Amino acid sequence: MNNLEYNLEVNIAALKLKNPVMPASGTFGYGEECSNFVDLNKIGAIVPKSITLKEREGNPQPRIYEAIGGIINSIGLENIGVDRFISEKLPFYNQFATPVIVSIAGETLEEYIRLTERLNEANKEGLPVHGIEANLSCPNVKKGKRFSEDPKGTYELIKALKSITKTTDLSIWAKFSPYSFDSVKAACDAGADAVVLINTLPAFGIYKRKIKPGEREYIIGGLSGPCIKPIGLYNVREASEIVDVPIIGVGGITNTDDAIEYLRCGASAIQVGTANFINFGVMLSIIKGLKNYMKEHKIKDINDLIGKLV
Ligand SMILES: Cc1cc2nc3c(=O)[nH]c(=O)nc-3n(C[C@H](O)[C@H](O)[C@H](O)COP(=O)(O)O)c2cc1C
Repeated sequence: MNNLEYNLEVNIAALKLKNPVMPASGTFGYGEECSNFVDLNKIGAIVPKSITLKEREGNPQPRIYEAIGGIINSIGLENIGVDRFISEKLPFYNQFATPVIVSIAGETLEEYIRLTERLNEANKEGLPVHGIEANLSCPNVKKGKRFSEDPKGTYELIKALKSITKTTDLSIWAKFSPYSFDSVKAACDAGADAVVLINTLPAFGIYKRKIKPGEREYIIGGLSGPCIKPIGLYNVREASEIVDVPIIGVGGITNTDDAIEYLRCGASAIQVGTANFINFGVMLSIIKGLKNYMKEHKIKDINDLIGKLV
């Protein structure tokens, strides 16, 4: 098939992606670990796991629970912190012609601001950071609720990040927990370049197997995987009715059909999460599947699929 005949390129505000498929933060490490299995030049964007100001060890075990049609995770944002991320990980991405969207997480507005300032400086120094995905599913310790449950706080946060990045071309994406429509609207009013829907759903699981001494027999964490796809689709569809910025759909995508459903519901691009744990090659299969689908249905431009639901 001649790829030139079939356009998979999508624009997420000012950012051009060669195709609409990328990993969901936290399910693809820093990208480096997976680069032996997945050619990072072939995916639409690189989205590493969320980074915080300070290095975090994450939560004690157990951290994963197998639910029906998905998993519950309680990783607790384990990561190496922004300084090490900039010095140890960002240079690695230089070898790829793929935009890097750095996911950030904080406990206060000030932490998101500091993280964005650091990444904006890195961008000015020529390091490969093209966008920031603000993970707003984190609890705001000052307000006792998640950022994404607080439209006013979301507005303030996105406005601040946009103001820091106004002299660079860094895109600001805002990622939300499900059903945060007032905050989604607020983020767009504040100038977000794109919104990412959805993060995991709060969930509880009790282990049936014998646990190791000292370990909890239950988990409170975030539910992901195929079982949340209808919720992801609902959120993308609803959001597409209320905002004009591009939407990145995520939640339960495991194959090309799932990806097409998200695009047709109004997503301009999609992220693959839990499915990466089963098969690192899944994103490449989806990209190939999208090309085949377009060929089969004589669709020259993937953008003609976006939001096309009768
Ligand atoms: C093990 C694990 C770790 C995750 N870590 C993050 C993270 O660091 N930051 C973030 O924004 N989302 C994180 N997520 C949420 C995913 O990015 C995604 O929004 C969610 O899993 C839904 O997609 P899926 O059903 O395809 O997995 C994580 C999910 C899993 C399963």
